[in-house]
Amino acid sequence: MKYENILVDQRDNVGLITLHRPKALNALCAALMDELTHAIEKFDKDDGIGCMVLTGSEKAFAAGADIKEMSDKTYIEVMRDDFITANWEAAAKARKPIIAAVAGYALGGGCELAMMCDFILAAENAKFGQPEINLGVIPGAGGTQRLTRFVGKSKAMEMCLTGRMMDAQEAERCGLVSRIIADEDLLDEALDVAQKIAEKSLPSVLTAKECVNVAYETGLKEGVHYERRVFHALFAFDDKAEGMNAFIEKRQPKFSDK
Ligand code: CAA
Repeated sequence: MKYENILVDQRDNVGLITLHRPKALNALCAALMDELTHAIEKFDKDDGIGCMVLTGSEKAFAAGADIKEMSDKTYIEVMRDDFITANWEAAAKARKPIIAAVAGYALGGGCELAMMCDFILAAENAKFGQPEINLGVIPGAGGTQRLTRFVGKSKAMEMCLTGRMMDAQEAERCGLVSRIIADEDLLDEALDVAQKIAEKSLPSVLTAKECVNVAYETGLKEGVHYERRVFHALFAFDDKAEGMNAFIEKRQPKFSDK
């Protein structure tokens, strides 16, 4: 597939995807979402990739779904074409981790896309919001659900009802982002973290990600049971022996992903 709205690159074992529609603050049009889906699925299948980074520009991660493209759509069109479900959820479905490196605006679908990633590193200038209420709609790519799980009911309700933005400091305080990074260091730090993840044993990475996600989707008892089963299963892997022996022998592990 030819990419016209994203840039795709590989740095060591990290797949880097940059949203690149500068004239529209990376508004998430259908063509961009098709390309993003393709790129994520390709990296997810690539044995040379252990982690992905999704980023935008210094001014905008993404300013939301493309309002100009959406403005003429009717109920029957969005329902029939399965708008959002059709090509927006690759980040949430990927098995390998995806880090969102967010600078500038992450609004509406942009905030929702960042929340579909596994964690968010925010530049100091990042601004998050779900302003769909100002357009006479509501968040449609999981915002009412994921934001509530990230930040709790009170703040999610305020954000969705008023459409106000929160800055990086507030986003870190309420748990929406894992860390704030100086603007100029954001991408390097995200790539560095991603490479560290890529160097771990892939089965451990895939199962750790799955287990943390289960915490969102089930109750505690069921989640801990799931974790315990997966933890036991990892004892069948060569990488468990290698990781533990390396610790005992005071050396770095050499994982084979087996
Ligand atoms: N869709 C389409 N175009 C957009 C856009 C969007 N979401 N956001 C920005 N743009 C375009 C603008 O129309 C403008 O294009 P022109 O130069 O051709 O007029 C260009 O990007 C630059 O934008 P601004 O001039 O508005 O830039 P600014 O710095 O003055 O303001 C902003 C920045 C506050 C982010 C403002 O652009 C804005 O409010 N954007 C819309 C944010 C929004 O409402 N997002 C939610 C979309 S709905 C959604 O996402 C639904 C869902 O849940 C899936």
